[in-house]
Amino acid sequence: MRAILVKKFGPVASHAIAEMPDPVPGPGEVLVDVHTIGLNLPDSLMVQGKYQKRPEPPFVPGRDAAGVVAAVGAGVTRCRPGDRVLAQAFTGAFAERLVAPEQRCFVLADAMDFADAAALITTFNTAYMACVVRGNVQPGETVLVTGAAGGVGLVAVQLLKARGARVLAAVSSPEKAELALANGADGIVETSADDLKASFRAQVERLTDAAEGRGVDLAIDVVGGDVFEACLRVLKFAGRLVVVGFSSGHIPAAKTNYLLYNNLAVIGAPLDINFEKAPANIEASVAEMQALYGQGKLNANIMRQFPLEEFKEAFRVIESRTVRGKIVLTTGRNDAA
Ligand SMILES: NC(=O)c1ccc[n+]([C@@H]2O[C@H](COP(=O)([O-])OP(=O)(O)OC[C@H]3O[C@@H](n4cnc5c(N)ncnc54)[C@H](OP(=O)(O)O)[C@@H]3O)[C@@H](O)[C@H]2O)c1
Repeated sequence: MRAILVKKFGPVASHAIAEMPDPVPGPGEVLVDVHTIGLNLPDSLMVQGKYQKRPEPPFVPGRDAAGVVAAVGAGVTRCRPGDRVLAQAFTGAFAERLVAPEQRCFVLADAMDFADAAALITTFNTAYMACVVRGNVQPGETVLVTGAAGGVGLVAVQLLKARGARVLAAVSSPEKAELALANGADGIVETSADDLKASFRAQVERLTDAAEGRGVDLAIDVVGGDVFEACLRVLKFAGRLVVVGFSSGHIPAAKTNYLLYNNLAVIGAPLDINFEKAPANIEASVAEMQALYGQGKLNANIMRQFPLEEFKEAFRVIESRTVRGKIVLTTGRNDAA
């Protein structure tokens, strides 16, 4: 099979496609013929050795794939050969064949095609952990989402709307604002001003109701850095800020006296740890994803699909910050729907 192989950590451009033996499923594992692969910002960090967890090279990176079960190992009960599945692996998805533990494989509803499934799995699960499990969003609350035209952000906007929240989308350009609004955002917060704290305060004040107290109940932050600091300043009494990621490349520090005096909570929302510590959260998330998709309330917003061999061009869209929605790779299997 063909796969992207990381022989040693380095920029995406330093890696290449290699011909490799097909993986073989062990007990409790599923072999998937991969049709589509979802790209995420963390994939780019992982191949550079900049992700918090560093697999030992050589390894095949990639976490999100959709396709057809080719074989299962001993003891597998969740799926059978021939089933259409999506898989959220830790590594191995940038390949024509993937082996994943059965707990990370989910049978696809007929309504969901392979491209949308691969595009949605990590973004939806991440948004669900942030908004529902950790953020505990309630109907009627006002929620600010940063990086709202990116993968996780756009899905968070749709999930929050489906759960009855009012959503403000923080984005850096008019094109991204347009996309966030098209996905249900109720208002836009521009992130391009120099003094972000003052600018966020002024914008959120204009967009929120004085009678209910200016500010947002919940902020979902994927960007970090100055944007995190600005989010902290627009929370209302008992507000919560959920830390999802640091796409700006800057990990901020919160002053705990500010949290204390203003009655605020800052909450971490990691996704992967749920597979080990709270798998019921993942099951609930995938069920909600498939239900919302079936009801036409969840759009994968695929910006572009690239063949596997053009993975460098595909990553360039993400790394250049021009991505709007999701980028998907295809392996060329002809029944890609
Ligand atoms: N908690 C978890 O378990 C988990 C799981 C998956 C992903 N994540 C993290 O969530 C974050 C978002 O992931 P994603 O897949 O949604 O990424 P994405 O599609 O690339 O979107 C990230 C957004 O961040 C904003 N951004 C600000 N500064 C940036 C910069 N210097 N470079 C790139 N983007 C920048 C961009 O929006 P604007 O231009 O509008 O600012 C962009 O749309 C990442 O940090 C990722 O590591 C966390």
